Amino acid sequence: MQTSPKTRITRDGIKLYNPEDFAGMHKAGALAARILDDVAALVVVGVTTSALDDFIRLEVEAAGATSATIGYKGYQHASCISINHVVCHGIPGEKKLKDGDIVNIDVTVIVDGWFGDTSRMYVAGKLSRKTERLIQVTHDALFKGIDQVKPGNTFGDIGHAIQSFVEAQRMSVVRDFCGHGLGQVFHAPPNVLHYGRAGTGPVLEEGMFFTIEPMVNLGRPETKVLADDWTAVTRDKSLSAQFEHSVGVTAEGVEIFTNSPAGKYHPTWG
Ligand code: MF3
Ligand code: CO
Ligand code: CO
Repeated sequence: MQTSPKTRITRDGIKLYNPEDFAGMHKAGALAARILDDVAALVVVGVTTSALDDFIRLEVEAAGATSATIGYKGYQHASCISINHVVCHGIPGEKKLKDGDIVNIDVTVIVDGWFGDTSRMYVAGKLSRKTERLIQVTHDALFKGIDQVKPGNTFGDIGHAIQSFVEAQRMSVVRDFCGHGLGQVFHAPPNVLHYGRAGTGPVLEEGMFFTIEPMVNLGRPETKVLADDWTAVTRDKSLSAQFEHSVGVTAEGVEIFTNSPAGKYHPTWG
């Protein structure tokens, strides 16, 4: 038998990638993040979400990359664009952004077989105080989760850090959608829950690649999916926000693959 370096699978079914695989994830993540940088200037009052999606699709093509979402389970767009009380999986369309609308844009690209998956919040026009706080808390919740990423911690530690932070701000964490393993596939084990108990769940090991993507609501956590079979909304119509990074577990802790190359990653810019 050949003994070339091989990826291993943990007992929880989680793939452990090799040190050289980080470079592939870094490249894919950087492209997805650059596209989120570039689309920011287009998020203005009056723009349609399909115009934003067209821009994203063209940038993916111009980079010689592939959109992971076009054709995924029948989905036809290069992004998900989720406005106000839409929690996730908003479908780009002819609806125009209004003053004060908050928008999550979620992009996943494939570069040389590696997947980069990231999302951020944007605002059209003027941001209210209450909404700004929702966006800041959601952003900080993602980083509370990322802070837990190191070998020996558990996925429950990530979920617990996010949930306890968000609930202390009197906001709620969505339970119906979670982060996921990724790498040379879009969605793989484990389910990365954004709530839970410290010390529970699979133990993090070097070489695990996954997303953390908390959705935070101003009201209750319950969601429902609309008749289009994609758009998830808050049941109580309260505002919802989300940020997503793709990360890898290193010997020291964490590498974020989807950092903004321009350092633009802040919830209230634009
Ligand atoms: N990018 C989303 C995620 O974070 C998945 C979108 S699937 C789609 O996992 F088909 F809706 F685009
Ligand atoms: Co994701
Ligand atoms: Co995503």
